[in-house]
Amino acid sequence: MKKNIILLLAMFTMIMLAGCQAITGESRELKLAHNQSLDHPIHLSLVEFGRLVEEKSNNELTVKIYANGQLGSEREVIELTQTGAVDVAKVSASALEGFESDYSIFSLPYVFEDYEEFEIVMNNDEITDQLYYQTENIGFIGLTYYNAGTRHLYTKDKEVTSLEEMRGLKVRVQPSQTSVRMVEALGGIPTPMAYGEVYTALQSGVIDAAENNETALVGNNHGEVAKYYMYTGHQIVPDMLIMNAERFEHLTDEEKEIVKEAAVESTMYHEGIWTETIEEFTVIAKERMGVEFVDVDKSIFIEAVQPLHKEYAANEKTRDIYQLIKGGTLSE
Ligand code: GCU
Repeated sequence: MKKNIILLLAMFTMIMLAGCQAITGESRELKLAHNQSLDHPIHLSLVEFGRLVEEKSNNELTVKIYANGQLGSEREVIELTQTGAVDVAKVSASALEGFESDYSIFSLPYVFEDYEEFEIVMNNDEITDQLYYQTENIGFIGLTYYNAGTRHLYTKDKEVTSLEEMRGLKVRVQPSQTSVRMVEALGGIPTPMAYGEVYTALQSGVIDAAENNETALVGNNHGEVAKYYMYTGHQIVPDMLIMNAERFEHLTDEEKEIVKEAAVESTMYHEGIWTETIEEFTVIAKERMGVEFVDVDKSIFIEAVQPLHKEYAANEKTRDIYQLIKGGTLSE
């Protein structure tokens, strides 16, 4: 009899706990979404993030990853993160521009001299704290950034090394107003579209070109349908790890620290595998897919986007960060 009562009490407690979890949405699993393939370096770094969260929390918190855009395009996944249907997401800073204009600076072509300058900005806590918490009122915060390389132009079937050759070229861009303006400034016809649609759009001729880091050629097989990769180096856009603000708020203080630490450590892990992957993928694209890599004189392209820079330097919302980057006053 006594045993039965204990059993009943235990069951009652479990049901009550499950009920509370359902009401507050506090399952101990974090649902993480991203749009890259399983062999992409970012997937490996997100797996590392999950591993670190689980290890540091003694499996109190777990991370389940939904890769390959299973839960939708980056835009859709940002919306799901706002509502809390997704807890954590890896999305490009360009896709975030439509939600918070502070992110637009990353899509401004040639805003960074090189990757070192970009890194100094991303490791400046004053800049990133402001950026990461700016979106709290629209439902999510930033946890960390990941190196997503330098973006270059690639076409189906022709070399493009001048503005004349850019003219009329239909170029897929990320859903970012600044990227649209960039292609317009270069004389092309911008076509914003979700990443998952680019392969078919190139193949069918809906677009003539796209632009991305080298992983797109191999990790997403674009090298099968695009045979010229021009080193234009027009953007250095980070990938961002964002989290539903309320979900983060409901974590204990210790768990908040764990999530933040795991995020930063996974960024370092990612740095460690990125360069090697780019080298490896470039060889595969050249040798197995027959992609031709072409050097270009960037100065023509830099010159063509200067009107955009002038706008950023004058715009109230962007001028501070623009001056900070271009003024050369940031140090490591
Ligand atoms: C990069 C980036 C992705 C993004 C993609 C794109 O690969 O890492 O997050 O979706 O560019 O061009 O859409």
